[in-house]
Amino acid sequence: MGQTVTEKILAAHLVEGELVKGQEIGIRIDQTLTQDATGTMAYLEFEAIGIPRVQTELSVCYVDHNLIQSDFRNADDHRFLQSVARKFGLYFSPPGNGISHQVHLERFGLPGKTLLGSDSHTPTGGGLGMLAMGAGGLDVAMAMAGKPFYLVMPKVYGIKLTGKLSPWVSARDVLLEVLRRLSVKGGVGYVMEYFGPGVAELSVTDRASITNFGAELGATSSVFPSDANTREFLASQGREEGFVELVADPDAEYDEVMEIDLGALEPLIACPSSPDNVVPVREVAGKPVAQVLVGSCSNSSLRDLMVVAKTLETREVSRDLSFEINPGSRQVLENLTAQGDMLTLVKAGARVHQAGCLGCIGMGQAPPTGAISLRTFPRNFPGRSGTKDDQVYLCSPEVAVAAAITGKITDPRELGEYPHFAMPQKYLPGDSRIEPPLSAGDGAAVEIVRGPNIAPFPAFKAPPADWQGEVLLKVEDNITTDHIMPAGARVLPLRSNVPAISEFVYEAVDVDFVKRARERGPGLVVGGDNYGQGSSREHAALAPRYLGVEVKLVKSFARIHKANLINFGIIPLTFADPADYDQLAQGEAVRIPGLCEQLAAGAEKLTLEAGSRQIPVRLEVSPRHREILLAGGLLNWASRQ
Ligand code: F3S
Repeated sequence: MGQTVTEKILAAHLVEGELVKGQEIGIRIDQTLTQDATGTMAYLEFEAIGIPRVQTELSVCYVDHNLIQSDFRNADDHRFLQSVARKFGLYFSPPGNGISHQVHLERFGLPGKTLLGSDSHTPTGGGLGMLAMGAGGLDVAMAMAGKPFYLVMPKVYGIKLTGKLSPWVSARDVLLEVLRRLSVKGGVGYVMEYFGPGVAELSVTDRASITNFGAELGATSSVFPSDANTREFLASQGREEGFVELVADPDAEYDEVMEIDLGALEPLIACPSSPDNVVPVREVAGKPVAQVLVGSCSNSSLRDLMVVAKTLETREVSRDLSFEINPGSRQVLENLTAQGDMLTLVKAGARVHQAGCLGCIGMGQAPPTGAISLRTFPRNFPGRSGTKDDQVYLCSPEVAVAAAITGKITDPRELGEYPHFAMPQKYLPGDSRIEPPLSAGDGAAVEIVRGPNIAPFPAFKAPPADWQGEVLLKVEDNITTDHIMPAGARVLPLRSNVPAISEFVYEAVDVDFVKRARERGPGLVVGGDNYGQGSSREHAALAPRYLGVEVKLVKSFARIHKANLINFGIIPLTFADPADYDQLAQGEAVRIPGLCEQLAAGAEKLTLEAGSRQIPVRLEVSPRHREILLAGGLLNWASRQ
């Protein structure tokens, strides 16, 4: 039987297991990336492993999330990251150079390679035909140390594209349509693989917008074939030598298939406050808008900002709103400026920010209370913008610029003729600030710079033979990593300091949680479906563990979060019968007799005792995961190997 692109890349990188759906496999990782919000911890973990230099083909340390320097902490962490990159043989992309995913696409990504990143939107690289996955920082640290990355062999969801996008409809609308059909849980366990004649109608940056946003489906990754458009993109970046063709075999079989006629799509928009709350723009047209933000890792390529600039050439931005641009990279900024499009944006009234994540992660650009903010960002989880009760809509650059002009949500087709324009054949590289790796000798001589904000990595104990604790918290469905461990300007500067950042755990859900956990832990958190959706933020596992959360019992887990829980020694249980969720109350004492014995024996069915009630629960993890849980976490386990 023929193979999909996903299967071809996995087969070429397989080091453990067999390509059998649902079984755990270990694969070799060619490239890694980290961003600063997760990177500081990833490098503290890499140090703890004790390897003098990264073992990958290339690894890049990006600073893109925490760019606000209102005190010493972010600035100190940036210097720490730069010194770590120099010491351990990584590329370093400094603050202002761009968002990891956009820069990686431009300068490093290659078809057929594997990429592991400590950021959930790492699948952006799938636009180039690479298998790019998000993971926790500890998984990335292990990959940098040359260890395999373990994952459950994913199923492949084939998305057949036909036709051609209409004017004012763009790549963002393709994934909004997939989210509309499948929801934020629809991709769990799958790699979303695109094929069909419509693929040739999409450029690499269009494809990357789709694979980036595919993270919101909960998918393991998303991938496009590598074809003539891929070669053209690599050539425009001066990297054509890295091109290889990679397409699915004609007789490849997908586990599921959906078809999208690109020509039938219309402008779409995700309403507050979930990326799958999708409707046609015309259904919400006319609502007044207070803020429009174009950019983020999802829609900040040169094409995305060019379409905005070209639309504004003969128009002005409404004075009733704030119109803001977060460019994806220094390269995008440089090209926009050289072409004159930057002048158009500035003259039309745009506020142009440095290249970075900024408002997407709540680092500035919070919208006004109760007012509508239109963003081309990947996420609109409640409060992520930094404003409680925010009203964030997600849309394409076309829909964003239409609203910027009219001051209200507007179907961009009402603007009239679409601004047709040609992309440059050769991009100005704009990567003069990227530092290449030092030689092993020079790296060994580098002293790592540690500011007072960097705290050592905490040590965790192995679980007791018979576990007991208290239900410290009970939460509902769709709890995100933002709920568990918020981001934003107050919290992100503490990411290299676990004791300090732990003070904010579950703040958005229950302000008394931290005090209760300290007084009454160890304990357990009960949750609903899709628990831990959102980001790869390992602090959402690490900080609760630091506070004494040793078990989580939910209806279902999001993939990356479950992996992070295991990495930090938190036992991830699910209800055998989801109806038993109603049986447990916050504050109850609970027990798991014989936990370690059952972990070691490979038991999938365990019993949780709450008073006289016996609640059947499931532990669906691999044999390797059981060893990690018995050791109290991945670092303990790795140090024993
Ligand atoms: Fe940054 Fe937002 Fe993307 S935080 S990496 S722009 S999802």
